Amino acid sequence: MKYLVKLAAPPQDPVILDLFAGSGTTGVACEQLKIPYILIEREEEYCEIIKARVKAAHKPIRKGKVVKRQEPVQDGLLPYDVVKKMMETEI
Ligand SMILES: C[S@@+](CC[C@H](N)C(=O)[O-])C[C@H]1O[C@@H](n2cnc3c(N)ncnc32)[C@H](O)[C@@H]1O
Repeated sequence: MKYLVKLAAPPQDPVILDLFAGSGTTGVACEQLKIPYILIEREEEYCEIIKARVKAAHKPIRKGKVVKRQEPVQDGLLPYDVVKKMMETEI
């Protein structure tokens, strides 16, 4: 589905509209690709399934974070393990 969504999405300001959303596979693909979407589904039961699937697929875009530098920078580079530790540490 991600392949299809990518094909259908215009490169600038894409929004995907699925008029027959069913269980929400289109929405899941859009969440994974971070493409805005509108899903329409008439069955209440399916709408609940869609909400759960889309929520599970939603990964917020990581916002910037402030890190305290503990290691000296050498040649403008930080060692991989230091960067990894920074990314894992919530502030
Ligand atoms: C074949 S399913 C879509 C399957 C979907 N691709 C998926 O991933 O589950 C078609 C869906 O369209 C819905 N549907 C049919 N007619 C509709 C209408 N007029 N308005 C909104 N939804 C409609 C049905 O309830 C059904 O869930």
